[in-house]
Amino acid sequence: MRYRRLGSSELEVSEISLGSWLTYAGGVGKEAAVACTEAAFAAGINFFDTANVYGRGAAEEAWGEILSRHPRDSYILATKVWGQMSDESSDRGLSAAQIAKQIDGSLRRLQTDYVDLYQAHRFDPDVPIEETIEGFQRVVQEGKARYLGFSEWTPEQIEAAIAIGGEELFVSSQPQYSMLWRAPEAEVFPLCSAHGISQIVWSPLAQGVLTGKYRPGQPPPADSRASSDAMGFAMGDLLGERTLAAVAALEPIASGVGLSMAEMALAWVLRRSEVASAIVGASRPEQVHANAAASGVELDAQTLAAIDAALAEVMVTGQRLAPLARAGVKHR
Ligand SMILES: NC(=O)c1ccc[n+]([C@@H]2O[C@H](COP(=O)([O-])OP(=O)(O)OC[C@H]3O[C@@H](n4cnc5c(N)ncnc54)[C@H](OP(=O)(O)O)[C@@H]3O)[C@@H](O)[C@H]2O)c1
Repeated sequence: MRYRRLGSSELEVSEISLGSWLTYAGGVGKEAAVACTEAAFAAGINFFDTANVYGRGAAEEAWGEILSRHPRDSYILATKVWGQMSDESSDRGLSAAQIAKQIDGSLRRLQTDYVDLYQAHRFDPDVPIEETIEGFQRVVQEGKARYLGFSEWTPEQIEAAIAIGGEELFVSSQPQYSMLWRAPEAEVFPLCSAHGISQIVWSPLAQGVLTGKYRPGQPPPADSRASSDAMGFAMGDLLGERTLAAVAALEPIASGVGLSMAEMALAWVLRRSEVASAIVGASRPEQVHANAAASGVELDAQTLAAIDAALAEVMVTGQRLAPLARAGVKHR
């Protein structure tokens, strides 16, 4: 396993990291969560990403139990705040009070007294950005988090935060990024790069689609995320026939260079120096080992061109933002 520096921090994160969205919030069961997490340690993975909202605390609770069996300084732990945590509609967002309440809940569930990285899961357009930044800075001042990051913020939101909090405020950006979803390349990558902020990218396998296991015209494999009531709802357009047909054309490209499709997909996101780590999910320990093998794999120009040609009709490029993310920045 190779490691990369996370932005301007002192953290060296593994190129492949493990995420717990859907899976360890209950999607795959406790035994699998234990087996995958232990496989990650065995494979040299030192970076673990979760969020308070994954199963409304369930994913953090599961990892609290599993990770606390390991020395605290043997892993780098990231969590997030923003999502709605109870049926109370106000129990969400990035007010200073909510950040203060949620970090304590996360630390209790994670059975630790600090996280290495505390991230804004999304932007909160209803709270003055000054208040949000002060709320996050207080978490660091109190020693409850070492570094800060954000996920899926627009260039406008990122610039506004840096203008107030300074260049050192954030060390990481967490966007969706894969061969199929290239949107952050256009603006978020260069902007963050100019400010010393790394990318840690989510769903780099497009939720499993880029492993080639979903075939056009065929039902999804019975043991896959798409077949799971608890997890399949999140896959949406990824299972469209056009997408699956284009992805099938990647198979000979991968085998032509002696790689599995998962290895090629993960090496593809890691080809960019702006990306510090690919956050991969896993339902079985074998997947963790298979994905860890992508660290250090280099793709040549011919392979990259063949991938672009295969996916030209289905990949998303340019800045494409969810309506919420387009909301402006509120000031005091
Ligand atoms: N910031 C955000 O808003 C945000 C949003 C989403 C995710 N994330 C983070 O990103 C992490 C990863 O997201 P994700 O789980 O969607 O990503 P992913 O890595 O693209 O997909 C993971 C899923 O693909 C399948 N898989 C993995 N390796 C495989 C292999 N070698 N062969 C075959 N199938 C394989 C597994 O599902 P099955 O075996 O069940 O098919 C696994 O659960 C999350 O856990 C979370 O930490 C963040």
